[in-house]
Amino acid sequence: MSNKRIGIITAGGDAPGMNAAVRSVVRTGIYCGFEMVGFQRAFGGLLDGDYINMTARTVSGIINQGGTILRTGRCPELKTEVGMNKAVKILKELKIDGLVVIGGDGSLAAGTAISKHGIKVVNLPATIDNDVVGTEETIGYDTALNTAVEAIDKIRDTAKSHERIFVVEIMGRHHGFLTLAVGLAAGAEVIIVPEVKPDIDELCDKFRTASISGKKSLIVAYAEGCGNSFEFGKQIADKTGLDVRVSNLGYIQRGGIPTARERILASVLGAEAIRLLKEDKTNFLVGVEYGRIKLTPFEEIPKMKKEFDIEDYKLLQKLSI
Ligand code: F6P
Repeated sequence: MSNKRIGIITAGGDAPGMNAAVRSVVRTGIYCGFEMVGFQRAFGGLLDGDYINMTARTVSGIINQGGTILRTGRCPELKTEVGMNKAVKILKELKIDGLVVIGGDGSLAAGTAISKHGIKVVNLPATIDNDVVGTEETIGYDTALNTAVEAIDKIRDTAKSHERIFVVEIMGRHHGFLTLAVGLAAGAEVIIVPEVKPDIDELCDKFRTASISGKKSLIVAYAEGCGNSFEFGKQIADKTGLDVRVSNLGYIQRGGIPTARERILASVLGAEAIRLLKEDKTNFLVGVEYGRIKLTPFEEIPKMKKEFDIEDYKLLQKLSI
């Protein structure tokens, strides 16, 4: 048995599957004989010394729940020197031997920064945006993808019945990873993503030609990173004279029951975080590639870029005829 004391934190935007990850980290930690501590409200809670002791029972019945029982938030204070020093001091005072940070890009930056102060950190990628490097898939992505596809399936009923173009705004911050997958799975005719600059006139021609050739309803999957979708919709309507509606899916994409795939990913990554801490191998992002766990040392992260899959983008265009 080991007597390590491990902290766990969920940070940034909540993502379905975070709870499954917390459960896995806590239970596999307890299995190793670790004492588990959960910081509440992300780094804001850490800075307030707001934590709870986690037992196998505190994570009962959460594998199927969206959100995060630890709650979450964004913490600008941690980005200041004073904030960082305070966080490190609290972690040392609490005798935390290792910290598991579950979150997106911002959380990865925070975990990396904390690790530079001598704290052992392991990060798990969790965000619906799927924009974290070092992993093909983030915790939260699969559920958001399924939620958005289900919503578009419903929107299509109205689009078809009224012969309308529907611009559907999808989350993803500065990237189109989620939009591309949603577009492919929902059979969207067009996707607009920050990675590919749209030619509005060409698009309008496409909409007009589609309408003339009998394709009376269309779905445009529009990534939030491309700007205001309502302005985009108005532009299309003004230029084509076609009936256009805009629907922003918004926060329904962040919530809900995690898919089975999500729960498995979260459970596997959580267990790996504890395996690393047990073996004193830390300062890694634990991701997944080709169905296997992929470890990326924090120092590699700044050199990495997550590539947008242009082949899938082209495929969507071929399929949209
Ligand atoms: O990172 C997840 C995400 O939902 C992004 O898709 C979106 O841009 C952002 O968070 C919204 O953040 P907030 O919860 O602060 O409004």
